Amino acid sequence: MRIGVFDSGAGGLSVVKSLLERRLFDEIIYYGDTARVPYGTKDKNTIIRYSLEALEFFNNFDIDLLITACNTVSAYALKEMREASSYDIVGVIEAGIIDVENKLIDKDNLILVIATRATIASNRYQNELKDRGYNNIIGIQTGLFVPLVEEGLRDGAILNEVMHYYFKDLSQPKAIILGCTHFPLISNSIQNYFPIKPKMIHSGKAIVEYLEKIHNIKNESKNTNLKIFASDNVNGLRNIAKEWLTNYYTT
Ligand code: DGL
Repeated sequence: MRIGVFDSGAGGLSVVKSLLERRLFDEIIYYGDTARVPYGTKDKNTIIRYSLEALEFFNNFDIDLLITACNTVSAYALKEMREASSYDIVGVIEAGIIDVENKLIDKDNLILVIATRATIASNRYQNELKDRGYNNIIGIQTGLFVPLVEEGLRDGAILNEVMHYYFKDLSQPKAIILGCTHFPLISNSIQNYFPIKPKMIHSGKAIVEYLEKIHNIKNESKNTNLKIFASDNVNGLRNIAKEWLTNYYTT
């Protein structure tokens, strides 16, 4: 099976890592819109337009499935993308919500959603959780984490200061939804910030479970061929891939 993975930039590589670990696919075509990242600060119409333009890129390949490994795109553009394409398109938000249910978190426990400004403003996570009976949800936009991850600052004083800025007034959460695909790279630091380690919901791990359970995709592939494309600075993205996907990256 050949699939496409789309993100606004490098963050979706954290989803690719989970896909590679499970060897679900023969070939992954990754496209990061690095010329226009971040999407999380843009308005809805712009996010939809960029996402539809990304579909044009994938028209060059005969893909069987597209994963939007970007929470911001998943929050705003899935409907329009599905209407415009002939293959299945899977987003990360639905998978993340199902993962909350799988982790058997009590409906009254505090769930913290951290994501880009646009994803938090969409209320997608918050509303989907409320519809399933969860009634103690806090969503905060933590956009500063995105450039920190890209700069390689995944622990240490600067990250601690930013976490303190965002989290200092919060009660202890039971679970944290990493509602941005950059955040799995600082998952340990975020988890360790709190006195009691919260359960972490990670888009990549969630999507793997979702594909296996809901789409019935089995891990029959031996080696996944990964091809990385970008709308700008493709070598920069490939270098990040080499670092993040050590053990998997070959070309
Ligand atoms: N990867 C994006 C997301 O998951 C975050 C980066 C951006 O703002 O484009 O929402």
